[in-house]
Amino acid sequence: MQSLLEVSSLSVSYGGVRAVRDCSLRVEEGEAVALLGPNGAGKSSTLRAIVGLVKSSGDVTFAQESITGLACEKIVSRGLTMVPEGRRLFPQLTIHENLMLGARDRRAGHEVYDDLLDRLPILAERRNQPAGTLSGGEQQQVAVARALMSRPRLLLIDEPSLGLAPTLVDRVYELLGELKAQGLSMLIVEQEVIRVLNFADRAYAMANGTIELSGTSEELKNSDDVKNFYLGTET
Ligand SMILES: Nc1ncnc2c1ncn2[C@@H]1O[C@H](COP(=O)(O)OP(=O)(O)OP(=O)(O)O)[C@@H](O)[C@H]1O
Ligand SMILES: [Mg+2]
Repeated sequence: MQSLLEVSSLSVSYGGVRAVRDCSLRVEEGEAVALLGPNGAGKSSTLRAIVGLVKSSGDVTFAQESITGLACEKIVSRGLTMVPEGRRLFPQLTIHENLMLGARDRRAGHEVYDDLLDRLPILAERRNQPAGTLSGGEQQQVAVARALMSRPRLLLIDEPSLGLAPTLVDRVYELLGELKAQGLSMLIVEQEVIRVLNFADRAYAMANGTIELSGTSEELKNSDDVKNFYLGTET
């Protein structure tokens, strides 16, 4: 039985500069997997290549089918959606309008929308407010909710805690925890290493475009390499 997501030998180049080299990773059904690494390691490029937003070489299989080379909308319609780095909401549009942009079609969108607002009361109260008026943590919830509008089986999340105060990061991870408990699989890029290792089942660590380490979250937390290179602590 294959994994839900299987990425093999993925490479991404920008105008001759190699940003991701021969990257292989997998996510099993129901798993939360972390992708760690310093700035410029190639984490966002890896996620963007998986969802078809940048050209890449290598193979990507999702739910036993090749999605290599498919356009992003096709990939989303198969159940793989990304929450982009920096949230990328439309600040002048309302929360309702931002969420509807994430739906695969209008009819299905309304159903998911009602369900999401039941689960995220903060968004329900403010549904007609411009997204730009929300706090950073609330905007991150909207960004996750927008991705959920496409009813994904696997969510790729790029730096959910970027720029957020610790209490807001708590709220975002609470939401991710609820989604995981409901069976949603996720691949999370995160620079808050301890936070994500406490959340995820397994993790990969990237540097200079390649995967240098992988293992269970417990193994990576205890790894001297992770302590030295990613946590900046001496061992
Ligand atoms: N559109 C682009 N055009 C040219 N080079 C790019 C582009 N996007 C990324 N790069 C380069 O590719 C490399 C990897 O970038 P990427 O954004 O994937 O890293 P990252 O691990 O997500 O970093 P960060 O933690 O800062 O978000 C970097 O050297 C970056 O400058
Ligand atoms: Mg990035």
